[in-house]
Amino acid sequence: MPFPSTRLRRLRRTESLRGLIRETELSPAHLIQPLFVVAGENVREPVDSMPGIERFSISELVAEATEIAASGVNAVLLFGVPAAKDESGSGAYDEEGVVQMAVRALKEAHPDLTVITDVCLCEYTSHGHCGFVREGEVDNDITVELLAKTAISHAEAGADAVAPSDMMDGRVGTIRHQLDEEGHPGVPIVAYSAKYASAFYGPFRDAAGSTPEFGDRRGYQMDPANAEEAVREAELDLEEGADVVMVKPATPYLDVVRRVKAATGAPVAAYHVSGEYSMLKAAADRGWVDERAAALEALTSIRRAGADAIVTYYAKEAAAWLS
Ligand code: PBG
Repeated sequence: MPFPSTRLRRLRRTESLRGLIRETELSPAHLIQPLFVVAGENVREPVDSMPGIERFSISELVAEATEIAASGVNAVLLFGVPAAKDESGSGAYDEEGVVQMAVRALKEAHPDLTVITDVCLCEYTSHGHCGFVREGEVDNDITVELLAKTAISHAEAGADAVAPSDMMDGRVGTIRHQLDEEGHPGVPIVAYSAKYASAFYGPFRDAAGSTPEFGDRRGYQMDPANAEEAVREAELDLEEGADVVMVKPATPYLDVVRRVKAATGAPVAAYHVSGEYSMLKAAADRGWVDERAAALEALTSIRRAGADAIVTYYAKEAAAWLS
């Protein structure tokens, strides 16, 4: 029935009417807070390109986790910034590495907090690439072995889930197989399945000190022009044993979030990355957007597109706004 019988504005009149028919819910339970852990003691270093984000040594990290848990956010994603780097990224799979120690400390202090670990070599390699470099290229199959070693070491430390972000072929299958063999069949894999070679990672590379020394990541991360390929990546990862498939970045790739969800029906995560965060912070700082409204709108759009969980640097702040 067209106008004048149908007036969609009738249900927009009051907040309680709007609340009754709201299609998308955004709550702290959907959010995952990324955290950077550094070697050393009593360290709390602000990241210049990411206002509000700091790098923490372990005891400070545990204190931050207390605040995060109090905000209602139940999950964190850990990134390590080691004291030393080398060609094969050995800090990534060191039992006494910065992430492994942080996981043990976090799980001891906050057994109920879900601790997910980023599994990648780029923060640990001297050249900043996500794997082992041979003849100027990241060697896929050698890298997969090192990633599996890394994932196992995180599981041994007590990680609740591992999240490979390297984009090597076959890494999910190998990690799944080795986790099962080593007695960790219950540890889920949150696969960064469709991770694009994006300019929006700039601030993160600042925070993690992981800018590649030569070349770029286009030989392993996805071409921003492709969406069908993202569905193939997600399907392959699910066949190899992924429990959650992730799309990254989020807001410039909402169509990809939608497609992956529709094609697979699997749990989907989306990563609202550093550049998406820092752009909002920068505009808000200049008074150009209302930060709270803009950030919540961006996060709601990611849920509306089909994401179940959202990794976002806004998690703790957004949770406070939502409560
Ligand atoms: C590393 C990794 C990156 C991010 C998450 N894991 C950076 C990259 O691929 O260069 C980016 C996250 C962000 O920008 O917030 N494998």
